Amino acid sequence: IPVRIYPDLKEGSKFAAREIAELIRSKQAAGLSCVLGLATGSTPRSMYAELVRMHKEDGLSFRNVITFNLDEYYPIENDALQSYNRFMHTHLFDHIDIDPKNIHIPNGEIPKEEIKAHCVAYERMIEEAGGIDLQVLGIGNNGHIGFNEPGSSIMSRTRLVTLDTSTRIANSHEFANISDVPRLAITMGISTILKAKRILLMAWGPAKAAVVQKSVEDNITEQIPASLLQQHNESLFILDEVAAADLT
Ligand code: F6R
Repeated sequence: IPVRIYPDLKEGSKFAAREIAELIRSKQAAGLSCVLGLATGSTPRSMYAELVRMHKEDGLSFRNVITFNLDEYYPIENDALQSYNRFMHTHLFDHIDIDPKNIHIPNGEIPKEEIKAHCVAYERMIEEAGGIDLQVLGIGNNGHIGFNEPGSSIMSRTRLVTLDTSTRIANSHEFANISDVPRLAITMGISTILKAKRILLMAWGPAKAAVVQKSVEDNITEQIPASLLQQHNESLFILDEVAAADLT
């Protein structure tokens, strides 16, 4: 997997934002929509801030953009402080000119018996939009992408999954108590992600160095879901120097 290494997350985030802005503008010029797959968590915050700045200061319009988020906790209320729905509105959607009907996020509020149909519909909506042009990813300390935890099949599609204890601990700072972190989530699958035309995975900070090294340089294994990106010929890791420190 090719990597680009930046002095800090600000510079790396600006690069990612510029790549996205360029794609949006070239699609606009051709009269086409631009389909983005989006991630949440601490990693993409600075990139979203840069996209908002580009909208406000550089005239970047999102009128032709269609988005599909990777994942959402289950169950969770859409406007709960910790929901990924709320995260996306706070960090991006509330500040840009995207058409609200072009926003798609797995719904953490639907009744359990409707989850299967919801996941099937999510996959169908991605296909009907023409597939994901560019997918943004972070990486979990355990190598997860989206909420595809170690052991997830390369064939997996959007579905309900059980979060690893390590993931619940890593994300517990958002919640009052570890027991408040949902045990389940709805996530795009590995095959959903691998169907994207282009993939940008960002990783910042020393905690990600070991798993970045394994994903990029070790064997492809479902035990390190991000290593499956080695099978994709348009994927790129965007790293800061500390996250890249273990690469040979
Ligand atoms: C979030 C997601 C997760 C995160 C990963 C890293 O939508 O899909 O895979 O990207 O857990 O989280 P942070 O960025 O908080 O370190």
